[in-house]
Amino acid sequence: MIDPKLRVLLSSEQIQARIRELGEQISNDFPTGHLHFICILKGACFFMSDLARALKRDVAIDFMGISTYGKGKTSSGEVKVTKDLDISLEGSNVIIVEDIVDSGVTLNYLLHLLEQRKPASIRIAALLDKPERRLRPVHVSYVGFQIPDQFVVGYGLDYAEKYRNLDAVCVLDDTQIS
Ligand code: IMP
Ligand code: MG
Repeated sequence: MIDPKLRVLLSSEQIQARIRELGEQISNDFPTGHLHFICILKGACFFMSDLARALKRDVAIDFMGISTYGKGKTSSGEVKVTKDLDISLEGSNVIIVEDIVDSGVTLNYLLHLLEQRKPASIRIAALLDKPERRLRPVHVSYVGFQIPDQFVVGYGLDYAEKYRNLDAVCVLDDTQIS
């Protein structure tokens, strides 16, 4: 897809190579026991499916819908669960799989919510991290890439529901963002 508003930040090859490393790391960290991925919809859908297939072990997968951002770029600051999990987390090693950690508001909220469901452990995997933007502390155990404070799209990330199916992560030209 050639679009003059986009500049490639992370190529498909870079993303896939990093996911293989993360898959190995998670497989080593959890050699046995029940492992449970929670994909945060919709942005993490491609990351979760590639990460799950990069594991050398079995993993249960489930999906959670969260809304923080509206149609544009700015956060409403509100976190709402729009789709809850189907499977119980009790006694499981849980990894929340997220596309990007920005202010940290979403993951901070989610961690508190899911800890109440008595998992054996709970960690976070995020493809992207924008540490400069953090408002709430969150510990991310598995980070794909740290990126500067720029608005990115592709590989699951959207701007007003556009660009999710790009296989690369691209910076969206600032003048396009309201
Ligand atoms: P946080 O609660 O501010 O950490 O927001 C996390 C959510 O905001 C992510 O799951 C994304 O859906 C969205 N988000 C943050 N930064 C970007 C970006 O650069 N591009 C697209 N979505 C973003
Ligand atoms: Mg998201």
